[in-house]
Amino acid sequence: MNWKVTQSLPISFEIFRSQDALSFNKIDIDRKLIVIDLNFYNLYCDKIIIDKNTKILTIECLESTKDWKTAESILDFFEKNDVLRRSEPIIAIGGGVLLDIVGFCCSIYRRGIPYIRIPTTLLSLIDASIGIKTSINHFNRRNRFGSFYPPLYSIIDNQFIKTQDDRQISNGVAEMIKLSIVTDQELFLLLEKNVKELMEQRFQGNIANQTINIAIGGMLSQLTSNLWETNLERPVDFGHSFSPIIEMKNVDDLLHGEAVILDCLLSSCIAFIKNMICEDVLIRIFKLIQSYTLPTYHTDFFDIDLLNIALSDTKKHRNGNIFLPLPTAIGSCNITNNLTDPELLLAILKMKELNARF
Ligand SMILES: NC(=O)c1ccc[n+]([C@@H]2O[C@H](COP(=O)([O-])OP(=O)(O)OC[C@H]3O[C@@H](n4cnc5c(N)ncnc54)[C@H](O)[C@@H]3O)[C@@H](O)[C@H]2O)c1
Ligand SMILES: [Zn+2]
Repeated sequence: MNWKVTQSLPISFEIFRSQDALSFNKIDIDRKLIVIDLNFYNLYCDKIIIDKNTKILTIECLESTKDWKTAESILDFFEKNDVLRRSEPIIAIGGGVLLDIVGFCCSIYRRGIPYIRIPTTLLSLIDASIGIKTSINHFNRRNRFGSFYPPLYSIIDNQFIKTQDDRQISNGVAEMIKLSIVTDQELFLLLEKNVKELMEQRFQGNIANQTINIAIGGMLSQLTSNLWETNLERPVDFGHSFSPIIEMKNVDDLLHGEAVILDCLLSSCIAFIKNMICEDVLIRIFKLIQSYTLPTYHTDFFDIDLLNIALSDTKKHRNGNIFLPLPTAIGSCNITNNLTDPELLLAILKMKELNARF
């Protein structure tokens, strides 16, 4: 006798934009269980509406503490507060690190409890709070444990970006530049034309709103039809092929977006070497990265042995393929499955040459 079980999992969650996310006026629950980034809490605690039924856990968020130990402290908070399985969604407030860990904990506690995401960094507003991925780092590898686990909804409030420093804002821009190079010429042009205004106004105002809306819409259109990544040929993986291992190796020095953008530049150099883009396009990409004071130079991205080790780890993630997204113009890409050592060496030389020239 054989049996077969077939079911499909309905996925539906909303992403709202709001100008007062901390009033929690969209969240209608009696007891609020909040897990919040410690730095953010210190900056915004007087704005958070707290009543006698609110329980708060603050978490120190660094890439190096996005780990099992932090996850356990969050699971402990759920357990000590006797969280109800269905009707007390956890409210996660913070950057990508906090959202990834809390989402992961919610996905495994009692095999899944609901949660709400309130992103507080540019990077998490346009990327980490848009899809359904959760994770922690382990075995010295990025996101080695994780799950696909959608929130009930995400509340996007770009006012929080005002308190981020320039380096952290540029870190968020890196993921926007990534998306624009491979999928969206309009976003690239907006970022290219408005560097000064976007940075000086800390992503507030009309152009910022337009940029954020296009970035979120663009991410959603890439992710929605492939939520579980059954298709591993993903343009949004641009910048995430060589960078994961190098980011972990430099965990105290390189931010996620910085590692990603260095990978975007190297990948663009590979595209140039493969005659997929001309030099003018490559130079525009280089200059856009530079204009947001993002790094264009890092010795680990010139180390062919390390790059090959990084790529072989990524290959496992892509089921034995390299599936490198490479730009073919501003706003479009092809996924390629072959890269030779001579091509990689020439790309490294090109990246060095661009740095020397500009
Ligand atoms: N799940 C996904 O799909 C996805 C996508 C992209 C990135 N990520 C993950 O996101 C993480 C990076 O996220 P991040 O860049 O937001 O970093 P982060 O969460 O480490 O936050 C950066 C720093 O900003 C502080 N901070 C948070 N909000 C602030 C505010 N409003 N004002 C001032 N400081 C504030 C934090 O305390 C932290 O020190 C990485 O771990 C990456 O893997 C996940
Ligand atoms: Zn990323």
